[in-house]
Amino acid sequence: MKSLSSFHPGAIWPDNNGVHINAHSAGLLFHEGRYYWFGEHKIEGKAGNRAEVGVHVYSSDDLLNWTDEGIALAVSEDPESDIVRGCIIERPKVIYNAKTRKFVMWFHLELKDLGYQAARAGVAVSDTATGPYTFVRSFRPNAGVWPQNLPAEERDADSIAKAKVSVGTKTNDPTGTLTPLAIHLAQHEGGQMARDMTVFVDDDGKAYHLYTSEMNATLHISQLTDDYQDHAGIYVRAFPGRFMEAPAICKRGGRYWFIASDCTGWDPNPARAAVADAILGPWTELGNPCVGVNPENGLGPEKTFGGQSTYILPVEGKKDAYIALFDIWRPENAIDGRYVWLPMRFTETGFEIEWRSEWSL
Ligand code: DGJ
Repeated sequence: MKSLSSFHPGAIWPDNNGVHINAHSAGLLFHEGRYYWFGEHKIEGKAGNRAEVGVHVYSSDDLLNWTDEGIALAVSEDPESDIVRGCIIERPKVIYNAKTRKFVMWFHLELKDLGYQAARAGVAVSDTATGPYTFVRSFRPNAGVWPQNLPAEERDADSIAKAKVSVGTKTNDPTGTLTPLAIHLAQHEGGQMARDMTVFVDDDGKAYHLYTSEMNATLHISQLTDDYQDHAGIYVRAFPGRFMEAPAICKRGGRYWFIASDCTGWDPNPARAAVADAILGPWTELGNPCVGVNPENGLGPEKTFGGQSTYILPVEGKKDAYIALFDIWRPENAIDGRYVWLPMRFTETGFEIEWRSEWSL
């Protein structure tokens, strides 16, 4: 295989075997001098939108040339398993826990044949970066735990009872008729919905799970326990009613920078951006960070070049180099989904992500 010397956003991205990389909604990990790229393994056709194989992992030392390391987390053949073949596994992200020396994978899990109703977080662990990972469990986070930024007067049994009546058994609210708070209260006892997500390890070693909750209306930012395998009971509701999916985050200059999408299924929409001085907020929304047009599809900032955010990668050893990662979805033939990696340019007040058809570090 001829080695690659530049990024080609939106193009076929061959691995060491010349095969288009199959790791969608990527999460990156840098460990002991090597990058690991985890993502959803898709198969051909619409069936590729379900987990038929599992989470694929690749490794690289230059971010351009990737070696296929196989399936990190395989779906199960046991019909009783939460991750039985045919379930939905999305947005896998791996972090390394220096204390336990375990690699911990978090992902969005939907149980087989239930569409997007289950809205669960899944956890799997491994002793090595590339796996195989062992599935631990799936659940809805923070059952019975109040968010830190929910006013005391909202935290009562009466409000929960009223919310349960108005929300009923709904797990989705595309018309936005329910209030995010009602959805939140109705899930208080059973645990909060967790769909699109990422995980982030801060400089002090504390890790956070950021997930789209409340029928996608609100983002939750939840601290993880010291072993990174559970929620620590400290979390906030962020951007209530803003329907942000595809969260991605980085830290630069002591501040937290955030990218997400709007909520329109597999179709592209305008990207969101935000900044905060503390990860638990308060968060301030910034404008759409995208600039320019992807000539392949004619799409610019109003459609995020045809993509949807998935991760922000700080480039190791390169000051101020951050890469924003996006997916161009092809839901009719999921395996043909494309990757758009673009440099982030920080300004006085925010950051920009400008389209490039070809670029290098
Ligand atoms: C948008 C999400 O960002 C994706 O991860 C996936 O869940 C699709 N919706 C499904 O329509």
